[in-house]
Amino acid sequence: MRQHSPLQPLTQIPAHLQTIADYEKEAELHLSHMVWQYLQGGSMDEHSVRGNLSQFEQIQLLPRMLKDLTQGHTQIEILGQRFPHPIFVAPIGHQQQFHPDAEAATALAAEVLGSNMILSTFTNTDMRELKQGNPFKWFQLYWQGEREKSLSLVKMAEAHGFKAIVVTVDSPHSGIRDRERHAFFELPKYEPQPHHFIQQPQSKQNEHPLFQGLMKIAPTWADILWLSQNTSLPIILKGIVNPHDAELALQHGVKGIIVSNHGGRVLDGCISPITALELIKNVVPTDFPVLYDGGIRRGSDVFKAIALGASAVLVGRPCIYGLATAGALGVAHVLKILKEEFEITMALMGTATVDEINKDYIFQKS
Ligand SMILES: Cc1cc2nc3c(=O)[nH]c(=O)nc-3n(C[C@H](O)[C@H](O)[C@H](O)COP(=O)(O)O)c2cc1C
Repeated sequence: MRQHSPLQPLTQIPAHLQTIADYEKEAELHLSHMVWQYLQGGSMDEHSVRGNLSQFEQIQLLPRMLKDLTQGHTQIEILGQRFPHPIFVAPIGHQQQFHPDAEAATALAAEVLGSNMILSTFTNTDMRELKQGNPFKWFQLYWQGEREKSLSLVKMAEAHGFKAIVVTVDSPHSGIRDRERHAFFELPKYEPQPHHFIQQPQSKQNEHPLFQGLMKIAPTWADILWLSQNTSLPIILKGIVNPHDAELALQHGVKGIIVSNHGGRVLDGCISPITALELIKNVVPTDFPVLYDGGIRRGSDVFKAIALGASAVLVGRPCIYGLATAGALGVAHVLKILKEEFEITMALMGTATVDEINKDYIFQKS
């Protein structure tokens, strides 16, 4: 175990920070051992965490040469909204642990870089503090047990200019995270308390603490349909990996999905999101937005996910490496690195626009 106390966040970016891997090493120096284990860890044996990263190594690109790219750009459109580029900021809870400016810093960096930010239910920065006029923000909802409680958060997001609701559905229970257990991880007691904590229900005698406890407050498809009928915002489900669920999403008023295994933090041994993406793309209409999440560490990973059908990608831990290292400045630099790597990959692949990127740019063995 590392013994030294965490370094203070930096106020300028040193020259040795050039890649996400550089930021990963640097961030560890700025966090306590316990918080580092919370950030890096996945569930059980971390097969899913490793799989999310290694899956990209198996994919080989098949570039085209001599094309005219002078009209090139990275803009995309999802559900009628145009975004400057397809690199979005994933929802990550409790960001005050990583930097005192927490989500306010991440939001500022995302805004400057034109990245759509998905704010977690477990934000330490009140959703009302995010800039009202910035159109690039979605709100991530953890179901609050009861419909009305969930809807009140959604209504608050509507009122504060969020453009979509991302309901995370892959974690009705948190994963078994060995690293956190070994490090005796506990969330800090915040002042003031984040406003969206769910009280865990107490099961009665003879009741199963899991199935008649936590699972009683987990949402079902009927709740998703109900939510979609009670908000003007589009509902996007995060954490879908099974094509059958993608089909059900379409039938329950859902306007898009995020293919994700929660960064390997919930179910270990879960299918890699890149494999799931391919399966899901086979069953949904071509214009149904399918976003990708998990293991993006390079601009070439962004390209690969888009080539396999993603409308946009989410970036989780790398943003927090930036946040822990240097607050808003660090997050902005991380996003800039990924954006530039993606643009250069597009140019080297012979693709002028994101719309042009498709499966033909991936080498298929058979
Ligand atoms: C420390 C941490 C906290 C997270 N908190 C949330 C959360 O509040 N809501 C959510 O939907 N996903 C949460 N996630 C999952 C991320 O949104 C995302 O799915 C995951 O980080 C993607 O993998 P990556 O880190 O390899 O990019 C969290 C992930 C981490 C690492």
